[in-house]
Amino acid sequence: MDADRASRTAVLVCQGRAAAHGRIAERRFADPVAMALLRDDERVTVRRVRAGVPPKGWGERVEFEMVRASAEVIVPRTVAIDDAVRARPLPQLVIMGAGLDDRAWRMPELATVDVFEIDHPASQRDKRSRIGDLRPLAKSVRFVPVDFTRDRLDTALASAGHRHEEVTAWIWEGVVAYLSRAEVAATVQAVSSRSAVGSRLIVNYQAPALSAAFGRMAARAMTATIRRRSLWADEPRRSSWTPAAMSELLAGSGFGLNRDDDLLTLAQALSIPVRQRRSLQSGRVAIADR
Ligand SMILES: C[S@@+](CC[C@H](N)C(=O)[O-])C[C@H]1O[C@@H](n2cnc3c(N)ncnc32)[C@H](O)[C@@H]1O
Repeated sequence: MDADRASRTAVLVCQGRAAAHGRIAERRFADPVAMALLRDDERVTVRRVRAGVPPKGWGERVEFEMVRASAEVIVPRTVAIDDAVRARPLPQLVIMGAGLDDRAWRMPELATVDVFEIDHPASQRDKRSRIGDLRPLAKSVRFVPVDFTRDRLDTALASAGHRHEEVTAWIWEGVVAYLSRAEVAATVQAVSSRSAVGSRLIVNYQAPALSAAFGRMAARAMTATIRRRSLWADEPRRSSWTPAAMSELLAGSGFGLNRDDDLLTLAQALSIPVRQRRSLQSGRVAIADR
């Protein structure tokens, strides 16, 4: 990531959640906070997707399709992760690469939980300016700037008051793909060093898929036609993992796999009408316990 520029993919997934709220899988998914985290210009496309009316202009249409696709992919991912957090209530929650994650402001189940939000410093600065005076539902929220490619996650967490002798739930959503395999492995090691027995690690990652790479190429070509810089030029994908490789990585750090589902299966269980079959097929959520 660019050292000074906040993540744009974090905005896209937040737009997806705002667009999906009350529109997709309403009984299982709700994110009434996402819209509040967006800037005025970012809300325009969200409103169009919510209304289900594609704009006429090519530039607006490209943005519309990206937010619409994001909404479809984000719902099963969010529901699976929320369920995994609720199923094992723990006193600490570390959200790694938090972006515009709003669980600390959205989930009443976190009322007794200390939340640590880890993110790239530029993205975290941007988020803090968006949060404004929104009050968290979590017991506490601490912002801990960490660049996974340069900084030590374990020492940053220790300085922020994370208690390694107590159990922790960890969420790592939409981040692994942007890190190299070595960076992913080093981060899992750091997580392990601060995970008491009973801790839970929830990882969203990408399985290798040629079709997903073609999809990104198409999206890049579309954004080029509207003279916008592609999201994936600033935030290139660096690693994908087979389920077996992810399971091995987690096991090597003392986390036993509890389940590992692809997003398509999760979306079908929620009866979501599927357009983004390929993206859903390659995205996965693994839940591992110590
Ligand atoms: C697609 S967004 C996902 C945000 C959030 N987890 C969600 O799902 O809404 C990717 C996130 O990864 C973070 N990220 C990417 N590379 C990073 C790095 N080297 N160090 C720390 N965070 C990083 C970005 O700042 C951004 O918040």
